[in-house]
Amino acid sequence: MKTVLITGSSRGIGAEIARRLSMEDYRIIINYNKSEKEAKALEKEIRNRHKDALAIKADITKSDEVEKMFDEVKKRFKGVDILINNAGISSYKLFQDIDEESWDEIFDVNVKGVYNCIHAALPYMLDKKSGKILNMTSIWGIVGGSMECHYSATKGAINALTKALAQELGYSGITVNAVAPGAVDTTMTNEIGEENLCVLSEDIPMGRLATTTEIAELVSFMVSDKNSYMTGQIISPNGGMIVY
Ligand SMILES: NC(=O)c1ccc[n+]([C@@H]2O[C@H](COP(=O)([O-])OP(=O)(O)OC[C@H]3O[C@@H](n4cnc5c(N)ncnc54)[C@H](OP(=O)(O)O)[C@@H]3O)[C@@H](O)[C@H]2O)c1
Repeated sequence: MKTVLITGSSRGIGAEIARRLSMEDYRIIINYNKSEKEAKALEKEIRNRHKDALAIKADITKSDEVEKMFDEVKKRFKGVDILINNAGISSYKLFQDIDEESWDEIFDVNVKGVYNCIHAALPYMLDKKSGKILNMTSIWGIVGGSMECHYSATKGAINALTKALAQELGYSGITVNAVAPGAVDTTMTNEIGEENLCVLSEDIPMGRLATTTEIAELVSFMVSDKNSYMTGQIISPNGGMIVY
């Protein structure tokens, strides 16, 4: 049975990915930082369906906490076969209002956190000469989003990392891809307020936000054995918001 670790799976898209993958033959590692209650409830929900799940706390910005999390997985299940780098933060600010602290904070979670997790996951994957890494990025990392320069820059960095690392790791049987959603109905998006959400929906040809279930369904295919030849690709479920 393959072990899949999903960072930031206590809530939102990550939690839905954990739920969806638990319908298949995977052992699910739910990573969380602050939302312990939600993560434990999800662990219980999956275990109640007689599937394997384990919630582990680790702030992905801290390499020692990430190492500890991977050590715990190694002790119990050898290693992580599929790493889904989903955890992320965002905020809406004019560029001149982004202070150094907010710039560093978003890069710490969205970029350094991904670096920390890939670094910890790779030795086992390289040893086995197989593995899948999937990064959750955003359309703003492709086309750039006004009022989200710092967020866009982090997601652009991970899109570039996806392409570069895929070329490096292809020889070792490890694939690296990214899913870059448009707007998805989660607390992250709802923070912009109802009025802005209506305006946003009008800009989407399909006239609505994506559901977390729709994103989880795509992720389920991306990490499956059916997806055996794709690497270095950024797949964007965005309702036609951007076409490139
Ligand atoms: N929602 C959208 O419209 C949208 C669109 C495109 C891309 N995305 C991307 O999709 C991903 C998930 O977004 P979402 O909307 O589901 O967000 P969300 O509902 O705000 O959930 C964010 C998740 O990230 C975790 N997280 C944050 N900082 C962390 C840290 N330092 N260490 C470990 N976990 C941390 C949170 O865990 P705790 O609560 O336990 O701290 C939570 O589980 C993000 O990468 C986001 O950029 C979202």
